[in-house]
Amino acid sequence: MKLLDKAMDAAIAPGFSNIGYKCRKRAWEPITESLAGRTVVVTGATSGLGKAAALDLARLGADLVLVGRNPEKTQGVQSEISSTTGNESIRLEIADLSLMAEIRELADRLLAGGPIHVLINNAGTLFNDRSVTPEGIESTLATNLLGHFLLTNLLIPRLIESAPSRIINVASGGMYSQRISISNLQNDQGEYKGSAAYARTKRGQVILTEMWADQLKGAGVGVNSMHPGWADTPGVRHSLPGFYKVTKPFLRTAAEGADTIVWLAAADEAAGRSGLFWHDRQPRPTHKTKRTRENPEKRQELWDALSELSGWSG
Ligand SMILES: NC(=O)c1ccc[n+]([C@@H]2O[C@H](COP(=O)([O-])OP(=O)(O)OC[C@H]3O[C@@H](n4cnc5c(N)ncnc54)[C@H](OP(=O)(O)O)[C@@H]3O)[C@@H](O)[C@H]2O)c1
Repeated sequence: MKLLDKAMDAAIAPGFSNIGYKCRKRAWEPITESLAGRTVVVTGATSGLGKAAALDLARLGADLVLVGRNPEKTQGVQSEISSTTGNESIRLEIADLSLMAEIRELADRLLAGGPIHVLINNAGTLFNDRSVTPEGIESTLATNLLGHFLLTNLLIPRLIESAPSRIINVASGGMYSQRISISNLQNDQGEYKGSAAYARTKRGQVILTEMWADQLKGAGVGVNSMHPGWADTPGVRHSLPGFYKVTKPFLRTAAEGADTIVWLAAADEAAGRSGLFWHDRQPRPTHKTKRTRENPEKRQELWDALSELSGWSG
C-alpha cells in the first residue's frame, strides 16, 4: 500500500483524482470521534468542500459556526445541514473574507462568544481576470491569503485559551508549481494568470502554516495545511471549465475531497500533529522541485508584507 501511495504521489494525476482516493481509502478507519462540546468555525461553508466538511462535522456533533458571505445562501446551508444531521447547534456568521474590515468585525463577534477549538480556513477562489477589492487589494491575494492571515492571527489568542485546538488551512496541490513572490504579491507584474496567482496564494498558506506551527509550539494549537486533490465543486466547474470537462469522470466528490479536512479536525490520530501539509490523511512533501523553495528571509518578508497590507500589528 505504501509503495502504491508513493507511486501515485509521484505521478500526481492518479493521486489527486478519485483513483487515489479510492485506493488509499481502503486503509482508513471511519472517523467516529465525537466533537460534542467542540466549537468548529468553517469558512467557505456554503459550497463544495466547506459545505461537505461542515456536514460531516455536524454529524460528529460539533457546535458549528458556518461563515458565508451571502446571508440567504448561508441560512439555506444551515437549515440543510441541521435537517440532514439533526444537529441544531449551528450558528452562522456573514462576512466577505476578501475585506479586512469585515474580517475584523467577524473576529470581534467570534471573540465575544465562547471557545474556538477548530478553525478551518477553507474559503478560496480562482479568479480568471485580475480585479481589486474596494480596499485596494488584488482579489486572489485578499481572498486566499491575506484574509486567512488576518482572521487566523485575530483568533489565535482564543484558540490558545481553548487548547487543545486545531487550525486547518485548505491549500491546493497547485501550489507545487509556484514559489512565493513578495515583489508580485498583488499580481500586478507581467501578464495576470489566474492559475499561477491562485497557486502562489496557496504556496503562501503552506508557508504561513509552518510559521504559525513554529510560533505556537507548546501552546496546544496544532496548525496544518492540506490539499484535497481534484474535487467536483461549483468552484472548479465555474473557474476551470476546460479542466472540468476533461477530468470530470476522475474528480472526487466534494465529500471525498473534504475527508482530510474532517480527519484533521476530528481524528485522535491527528492530535498533536502540527506544521505539516496533508493529503489523503498522510503528510506530503511541500515541494516537488528546488525551484519553488524559499529561504527564512523570504518567509519573514511575506509575513511583514501581509502584516502591512492587512494592518496586523500583533
Ligand atoms: N475543488 C478542488 O478540487 C480544490 C482543489 C484544491 C484546492 N481547493 C480549495 O478548496 C477550497 C474550497 O474550494 P471549493 O472547490 O469547494 O470551491 P467553491 O465550491 O467555490 O467554494 C468556495 C467557498 O469559498 C467561499 N468564498 C469565496 N470567496 C469568498 C469571500 N470573498 N468571502 C467569503 N467567502 C468566500 C464561497 O462562498 P459562496 O458560496 O458565497 O461563493 C464558497 O463557500 C478553496 O480554498 C480551494 O482553493 C479546491
